Parts: sequence; structure tokens; C-alpha cells
Amino acid sequence: MTVDALAGAAYIVAALLFILSLAGLSRHESARAGVVYGIVGMAIALASTLALTIADAWGGSGALLGLSLLGAAVLVGAAIGLWRARVVKMTGMPELIALLHSFVGLAAVLVGWNGHLAHAAIPPQLVDIHNAEVFIGIFIGGVTFTGSIVAYLKLAAKISSRPLMLPGKNLLNVLALVAFLVFTVWFVIDQQLWLLIAVTLLSFALGWHLVASIGGGDMPVVVSMLNSYSGWAAAAAGFLLNNDLLIVTGALVGSSGAYLSYIMCKAMNRSFISVIAGGFGIVASASGDEDYGEHRETNAEAAADLLSHAKTVVITPGYGMAVAQAQYPVADLVARLRERGVDVRFGIHPVAGRLPGHMNVLLAEAKVPYDIVLGMEEINDDLASTSVVLVIGANDTVNPAAAEDPGSPIAGMPVLRVWEAENVIVFKRSMAAGYAGVQNPLFFRENTRMLFGDAKERVEDIIRAL
Ligand code: TAP
Repeated sequence: MTVDALAGAAYIVAALLFILSLAGLSRHESARAGVVYGIVGMAIALASTLALTIADAWGGSGALLGLSLLGAAVLVGAAIGLWRARVVKMTGMPELIALLHSFVGLAAVLVGWNGHLAHAAIPPQLVDIHNAEVFIGIFIGGVTFTGSIVAYLKLAAKISSRPLMLPGKNLLNVLALVAFLVFTVWFVIDQQLWLLIAVTLLSFALGWHLVASIGGGDMPVVVSMLNSYSGWAAAAAGFLLNNDLLIVTGALVGSSGAYLSYIMCKAMNRSFISVIAGGFGIVASASGDEDYGEHRETNAEAAADLLSHAKTVVITPGYGMAVAQAQYPVADLVARLRERGVDVRFGIHPVAGRLPGHMNVLLAEAKVPYDIVLGMEEINDDLASTSVVLVIGANDTVNPAAAEDPGSPIAGMPVLRVWEAENVIVFKRSMAAGYAGVQNPLFFRENTRMLFGDAKERVEDIIRAL
């Protein structure tokens, strides 16, 4: 059997493993197996691509140099990848993912350029298709590259998460798309180098603008959308490299990412089209910085007293719980309250934290029983009859402005209606706004008390006071 035939068979196995991986990742119970399928599939894909490359290059001029460079690149890349994956904190995961998407985009741009500069023997009847592939691959890759860099900068808080509102921003995006279409046709007819340079710069500018125009509250959708774009960029590179597995894998990532974006848009009551069109239809709002009056503070002893007399307690964790790593003392507090006969449950917002399922992962890590961890829709109607809600490091996901202020930048986003409870205690370090940069009127309500400080330390104080 030839290396080609073996690699072809290995590609089919790898593609099946990727499909199994996606299916596994869709449920808690099978997620671990899903990850294993993905790792095995990727190992098979890498090994067979390497074998194919070696077989192709063997005996040719400069083969040794080429293969050594390839080996060195794989080793350096793998070492950096291993190191980053080991040291990254859970809270830094989304920005790492955004950065990795930018690499896929950049790779697609480079493959596209290489496809133009170094294309050898393409049958004449396929040349037009090849040229269109080069152009489209560079465009999708370029948008993914700079879009992911902006997402990284926003998620890592290196630039403001507020939306960029250039005058005529929607028109700019439409013009960029029209220019892309015209340039593509032009390039297929006449392969001028300046057209490639133009589409590269155009795609960089469009990617940057699309993501910069989207506000912090919509970043979860943006990250999954960029995930989808990176899949399509990889598929485009697969066409150029004539690699079936890259096409299949790219299409899997592209379509599953698009579907995830769609589900997230529905969960957050956002228009899918508006988000993919860089916040199309969203107008700048002056709201978000109003003066809501005075807030009231409490301390750990008073909180412990309130909790020990409560019948029902709901905990709504957010990003701050992850930053403080407060999940272990929170699990301890829950166990103690339950021993005293208090009914304690968790209410989890779909985008609490910085990645889908972030809070669920932290609570599972601290061994909180699954059956008391409920989704937003399951718990929202019970909040009005709850004695005490503990808002632990959450902000945007419990902001009443989303439900009550149509001018708010997060208007319409479903939130946990914690303000309906009898008492609310908010754990945070200051009066600072949440990720979306919008002030939270919850902090100024009659029934809300602020418990300032690091969430982990304050929960430990409450446990001591109990
Ligand atoms: P956020 O709105 O991000 O607010 C977190 C709060 O935690 C902050 O107000 C902060 O206030 C507090 N905090 C930080 N460190 C703390 C510590 N050590 N101890 C106590 N409090 C601490 O949180 P959220 O309600 O979870 O909302 C998530 C936001 O992130 C949404 O806007 C969502 O759209 C966005 N987002 C989500 C995702 C996904 S997929 N989940 C991805 C990207 C973006 P202080 O600084 O005053 O302490």
C-alpha cells in the first residue's frame, strides 16, 4: 500500500474522530471523552500529514533542509503551545483562544500568498478557480487575523471593551465587502500583484473594524464567531493545499462555530446578523453612567446572620468568583448552610465568566452537586420568593438595566432577576462596572447590600462568622 493511500485512510479516521469529538463536547458527561477523541484525531492527522510530506519531498533537491525546517517549526510551535496551555489561568482562556484563532487567520493569509507566488502545475481549466481560492482565502484569513487580535486585546483588557462608533460604520463595512467582490472578479481576470496587496490590507482593516465595533457584552458571540471564521479560513487553506482533511476539519469548525454563535445570540437576545455585521443597527447610547444615588454596605458578620436565618438562598456567581478562585470556600459555605437546613441553589447565567460553561466548570471542580446548579431560565421565576441572593463577583449578568432601560448598551440581554429577592448581597472589590462597562443600578437598590473585598476572603470571613 502506498503512503498516499495510507494517509487517505488515516484522514478518514481522523475526520470521524473530530465528528465524535464535537458530539462528545455537547454534553457534560461525555465532554472528557470528546476531548480525547479530538486529541487522538489531531495526532493521527499530524502524523499522516508529516508522513505524506516526507514521502513527497524524499530524494528531491533541498529535501533535507526543507524537512529539517519543518521539524524545527513543529518543535518550536509545540513547545510554545505546551507551555502556554500549562500556564494559562482559566480566566485567561478566552484571550488565549482568540490569539490562537488569529494564528489560523494569519496562516490562511500566508497560504493564500504562497498559493499565488509558488503555484506550479495547475491544469489550465482550474486556474480561475485557483485564483478565486487564493483571493477568498486571503480575505477570510485576514478578517480572522485582525478580528481575533482585537478580540484578544479586548478580552485581556488591553483596550477598552466599549464599541468603536466610527461615523458611517455600517456603510464602511458594506463598501469593504463590495470592494472585495469587485477585486475578486478583477483578480480572476487579471492577476495583478497590487490586487493581492489591496485585499490583504482591506481584510485586515475590515476584521479590525468589525470586532472593534462590538461592545463588551457581545464578546462571547464574537469569540465563537471568530472561531467559525477560523474554520472557514482553514477550509480555504485546505483547498489551496489540496488537503481534504483540512477542508473537512475547517468546515466542521466553521459550521459548529456558526451554530454556537447563533445559539448564543438567541440566549442573549441579540440579532445574529447585527453581530456578524459588526454591530449593525446598534446606535451609540448615552446611558450607562447615570447617578443612581447611594449604595449601602454590609459586613461578614451581618451576612452570616442573615444567611443563618434564611429559608432559601440562591448564589449567582460571575467572573469575580473565577478571579478570586472563591469556588472552594463557596462550596464549603453551601455545605454548611445545607447542613443547617437552608435550601441553597446556584443560578448560572449562560455568559457568566469569560467562556461558555465557565461557572459550571469551577463549581464542578469544587465538587458542588450538579442537581443544585440551575440555569438562568430554571431559577429566574424562583428569585422573587428567595430570602437571600449572594451575587459573587457577577455584574453584567445581574444588571436590571438590561431588563428595564431600553437605552442601555446591554438592553434586551436576559439577566438573572436577583433584585426581586428579599435581600441581595453583592460581593465585589469596588463600585467598578462589569465587563460591558455599564454601571449597575442593582448596587443602589433598597434591598441590596455591598460586601466589599476579595470574594474568596469575604466568603471565608462569613464561614468563620457562621
Ligand atoms: P462581569 O460583568 O465581568 O463582572 C465581574 C465583577 O467581578 C466585576 O464587577 C468585578 O468588580 C468583580 N470582581 C473581579 N475580581 C473580583 C474579586 N477578586 N473578588 C470579588 N469580585 C471581583 O461578570 P459577569 O456577571 O460574570 O458577566 C460576564 C461578562 O463577560 C458579560 O458582559 C459577558 O458578555 C462577558 N463575556 C462573557 C464571555 C462568556 S462566553 N462567558 C466571554 C467574553 C465576555 P470589582 O472590580 O469591583 O471587584
